[in-house]
Amino acid sequence: MAGTGVFADVLDGEVYKYYATTRQTQYRVQACTQEEVNKVMDAAKVAQKAWARTPLWKRAELLHKAAAILKEHKAPIAECLVKEIAKPAKDAVSEVVRSGDLVSYTAEEGVRILGEGKLLVSDSFPGNERNKYCLSSKVPLGVVLAIPPFNYPVNLAVSKIGPALIAGNSLVLKPPTQGAVAALHMVHCFHLAGFPKGLISCVTGKGSEIGDFLTMHPGVNCISFTGGDTGIAISKKAGMVPLQMELGGKDACIVLDDADLDLVAANIVKGGFSYSGQRCTAVKVVLIMEAVADTVVEKVNAKVAKLKVGPPEDDCDITPVVTESSANFIEGLVMDAKEKGATFCQEYRREGNLIWPLLLDHVRPDMRIAWEEPFGPVLPVIRINSVEEGIHHCNASNFGLQGCVFTRDINKAIMISDAMESGTVQINSAPARGPDHFPFQGLKDSGIGSQGITNSINMMTKVKSTVINLP
Ligand code: G3P
Repeated sequence: MAGTGVFADVLDGEVYKYYATTRQTQYRVQACTQEEVNKVMDAAKVAQKAWARTPLWKRAELLHKAAAILKEHKAPIAECLVKEIAKPAKDAVSEVVRSGDLVSYTAEEGVRILGEGKLLVSDSFPGNERNKYCLSSKVPLGVVLAIPPFNYPVNLAVSKIGPALIAGNSLVLKPPTQGAVAALHMVHCFHLAGFPKGLISCVTGKGSEIGDFLTMHPGVNCISFTGGDTGIAISKKAGMVPLQMELGGKDACIVLDDADLDLVAANIVKGGFSYSGQRCTAVKVVLIMEAVADTVVEKVNAKVAKLKVGPPEDDCDITPVVTESSANFIEGLVMDAKEKGATFCQEYRREGNLIWPLLLDHVRPDMRIAWEEPFGPVLPVIRINSVEEGIHHCNASNFGLQGCVFTRDINKAIMISDAMESGTVQINSAPARGPDHFPFQGLKDSGIGSQGITNSINMMTKVKSTVINLP
């Protein structure tokens, strides 16, 4: 069973998993039942009690070991990422290496911040003598449920696993359907490192059968979720447990007249089309001053023409999107824009799940793509006549994850950043979550709480106080 330290050896039920490129069955994983989830939860609860008493340095030592093993296994894990989610081969390896680094950094950061406590003395509050000493420190929450998305099944899992474990929690992982095999390999690396039985478990299965059951399970003490709208439903159903949620974005790229236009074009292409636009932090709408729009569109088109389109094994820039339904959704946005008069800078082309990169110019606010998140290689350009117009469009979105502004005027950049209702604003670079110790958070429908290594460790703890009363 998935929670016992081995994976995929007992297949009570099966979930068929598709190779994103060919859409043929590639792997099969266990479809866990609710009874099996209960067993995993029980084991996690027992393991956590002992783990919380394990010295912090020992917890860190095991995490460092897991990080090293993860990096040693980068090739087979990356191969799963290529097959399951069509991640370009080099990016797949980078995801695993980045994950190892994230786990090591988490171990170091945990030792620093969890090794500190606080002492308060009573006489600073009116009416008190100096006879009470309050010692407070951070203690674990219990069992953390981690639900990462398909686009980073390994990295966005370890960004939850590492902080949970270093803080003394146990961890139950519900991997995405596409990416579950890579996630199982990753969890196996933690088991090889020697983490106690039951402390970290991976529960694969059908969302319809175990999704709500997991998120509403009384044994869960914290939920860390990255994904789409499902997160809103989870937050409504979850009990009184801390939530960490990252639910996507419509990251705006505001381009001013005075920007370095080559830098702009390079970042629009990288930000809009890397991993075929399937990143929460992808540039999802370009808001560009009319005076420089023609030049930038021309430069972007020249770069788009050079993007390699094809299978992930060949390390192509644009690879098939994760599912057929995703491709259909993207196509719906494209057709809506076509009917309403957007300019197609390239011919729209699709074969199966593979969609060729497409820049849509002269997009207007009445088009769905001006507001919705395609999660694909399709990027709308809206021409603006003032910076205020750009800020207004950005802030009218339900999302508020990241955004970026391109200008050579740092004062203007800071003022625009202040005005943009986004969790992070990048100046003169495309949005990105990393480096992974930076805070990462969304406003509005983009999420709850803040991530990044330090924030996640803190979020997965609570403060415990002991007060010494002197006579
Ligand atoms: O959830 C965030 C993810 O989709 C994007 O991460 O590292 O590509 O900016 P990154």
